[in-house]
Amino acid sequence: MSKVTVVGAGFVGATVAQYVAEHDLADVVLVDVIEGMPQGKALDLWQAASVLGHGRKVFGSNSYTDTKESNIVVITAGVARKPGMSRDDLLKINAKIVQEVAKETVKQSPEGIFIVVTNPLDVMTYLTWQTTKLPQHKVIGMAGVLDSARFQTFIAMELNISVEDVRAMVLGGHGDLMVPLPRFSTVNGIPITELMPPDRIQSLCERTRNGGAEIVSLLKSGSAYYAPGASVAHMAGSILKDKNRLLPCAVYASGQYGIKDIYVGLPAILGREGIKKIVELKLSPDEASALKKSAESIRENINVMNQLLVAV
Ligand code: APR
Repeated sequence: MSKVTVVGAGFVGATVAQYVAEHDLADVVLVDVIEGMPQGKALDLWQAASVLGHGRKVFGSNSYTDTKESNIVVITAGVARKPGMSRDDLLKINAKIVQEVAKETVKQSPEGIFIVVTNPLDVMTYLTWQTTKLPQHKVIGMAGVLDSARFQTFIAMELNISVEDVRAMVLGGHGDLMVPLPRFSTVNGIPITELMPPDRIQSLCERTRNGGAEIVSLLKSGSAYYAPGASVAHMAGSILKDKNRLLPCAVYASGQYGIKDIYVGLPAILGREGIKKIVELKLSPDEASALKKSAESIRENINVMNQLLVAV
């Protein structure tokens, strides 16, 4: 029996629960600090199961003891970005929340794989690793799958083709400095560089970098949750079914791409034990320097976070 705990039963957390149950991946425990809310959403989702025809249980709770022996723990607890608020503004508030959640959940699921969603993503993933003291391959951040999904969608829109045939790769931090890689983005094997002019590709890359902000400004309150929820379920599926999918994930770099001792988005193979391997691609000088720049910005934010946490 597989069990996925989702901490933070807000928009992203509830959507993760929905997709994980609907795709018949695992039973789900939804946890939140708000009393009654995770129980209500879980009961609603469990009732949906009887209509949709899957047998997964969805349970809501305010207590970490119910999360015991989870195969995967997903951390979405935190404050969502509001219009005009940068991801980094969230750093201070979310660091305290994620630290507490990581500490409590790892006590219940010391063998679990942790997927972090709370922003700023790469820094919160680092903090989860630091707090849980788990091996690096068991703590993973969800960002690359989402950023690549956004890029894939924009490519499909531009070419007026089915998004099913589009595969794209976005590396680096989950922020304005993320690195979409057109050379490694294809339509059924055809590099997009063969299908559209450089200025159109640049504009799609730019829209991808602003993909989260575009949705925030349309929604007016709150941030994206369908594609983030689907991205977490996709990663959870590769882990629970030991599929070895090659996905861009926030992983602990220990020298790959010349980056060391931080979490950053890199292509990785994802299976039952978490990250099985980080795949190293030969990047062009421009791609490599953009990735380095993105990594350095994460490192600065990790330093800021560590100072803030010491000061508290
Ligand atoms: N423990 C458990 N749950 C918590 C805690 C805590 N200490 N602190 C806050 N929460 C819960 C809130 O009660 C809320 O229900 O986290 C939930 C967050 O949900 P939303 O506010 O709906 O935010 P959401 O859109 O789901 O985004 C969550 O994911 O994509 C990122 O930037 C986004 O960091 C944000 C996170």
